[in-house]
Amino acid sequence: MQPCTPPAEAKTPQDVLVVGGGIIGLVTAWRTAQRGLSVAVVDPEPGGGAAQVAAGMLAAVTELHHGEQTLLGLNLASARRYPDFAAELAEASGREVGDAGDAGGLGYRACGTLAVALDSDDRAHLRELHALQRRSGLESEWLSGRECRRLEPMLAPGVRGGLRVDGDHQIDPRRLAAALLVACERAGVVFHRAWAERLSVVRDRARGVVLADGTELHAAQVVLAAGSLSGRLAGVPDDVLPPVRPVKGQVLRLRVPKPYAPFLSRTVRAVVRGSHVYLVPRENGELVVGATSEELGWDTTVTAGGVYELLRDAHELVPGITELPLTETRAGLRPGSPDNAPLLGPTRLPGLQLATGHYRNGVLLAPLTGDVMAHCLTTGELPAEALAFTPARFTAPPPPIPAQSFTEQPA
Ligand code: GLY
Repeated sequence: MQPCTPPAEAKTPQDVLVVGGGIIGLVTAWRTAQRGLSVAVVDPEPGGGAAQVAAGMLAAVTELHHGEQTLLGLNLASARRYPDFAAELAEASGREVGDAGDAGGLGYRACGTLAVALDSDDRAHLRELHALQRRSGLESEWLSGRECRRLEPMLAPGVRGGLRVDGDHQIDPRRLAAALLVACERAGVVFHRAWAERLSVVRDRARGVVLADGTELHAAQVVLAAGSLSGRLAGVPDDVLPPVRPVKGQVLRLRVPKPYAPFLSRTVRAVVRGSHVYLVPRENGELVVGATSEELGWDTTVTAGGVYELLRDAHELVPGITELPLTETRAGLRPGSPDNAPLLGPTRLPGLQLATGHYRNGVLLAPLTGDVMAHCLTTGELPAEALAFTPARFTAPPPPIPAQSFTEQPA
């Protein structure tokens, strides 16, 4: 474990203290430091957590769900920022935007996505999704099974049709987190490699955090960006604590040996018997297969059942995967929120802001979250594009029901 920042520096008050050094915490810290504020991040292992598990699909269109139109707007806004964001981050961290082999690179790939159907139920589901995408003005093309296989020859002969979405890309979250860490350090962000045990609240205002060893860190503003752990920080008043819960995802990593490459040229995904499965091919030969979605609290065990189901479903889509070496199995926790959307910006407790609850879209929403949080921290206000994602939506009392609703009969 790396040593903590020395106590003298630890006690220097910062403008902003970010609790959580995952992708969301790091991007918040980087963007805020770029605006001239002094920033510190508290995390025992910055760049760890869900960033080490996630596949990194930037799937605003193929992960669209009924009832999530507002979230779609946010997701699309972030997807549009990705090319410039990746270029700026690559420059700031001294990397390439794409793969760049062992030398690093963000692994950003504008490869597109193919969502396929294996049976008539899947096809009906995909037709529904296609209709929703079109009603939402999104670009998505229906392909026959033969057309799908022409694009991706490794697909199973039984594929019945699919949706080609060229706008859904990918990035390698591990490389993204590593680059953000470097960009933060270069922008002067201070790291405290320790657990934040408790939020300090003095005279009804957040003033910093207390670390596990008792060290107190002070800041003018605190951002709670601790992913699935965000709902557990002691000291946060109950009516401010974000309603975030862990949603487990098991993910596999395989390796495509050189003679097989390119095995798949784009992300391939499907809903098989009601479960999502996706295969995300990296330029460096890694093939990520995910992901289960399990409401099991804080459990991060990789189970035989989870691995079996992922491999079974992935094998139905792309039979050739059973030839590939399985290099890693891992489980992480998504920060789920009651409406599957993030909580961004100021809370009722002065001095405390939230950047959490990104659920399935943390990697996708990184560019937008960084910009939104830097704006909030420098101006105290949520920008218009993020107003619908205020934490207040879960704490504001419901509007009163007019008395006439109980007395008037319909005409
Ligand atoms: N967005 C992919 C997942 O959460 O599994």
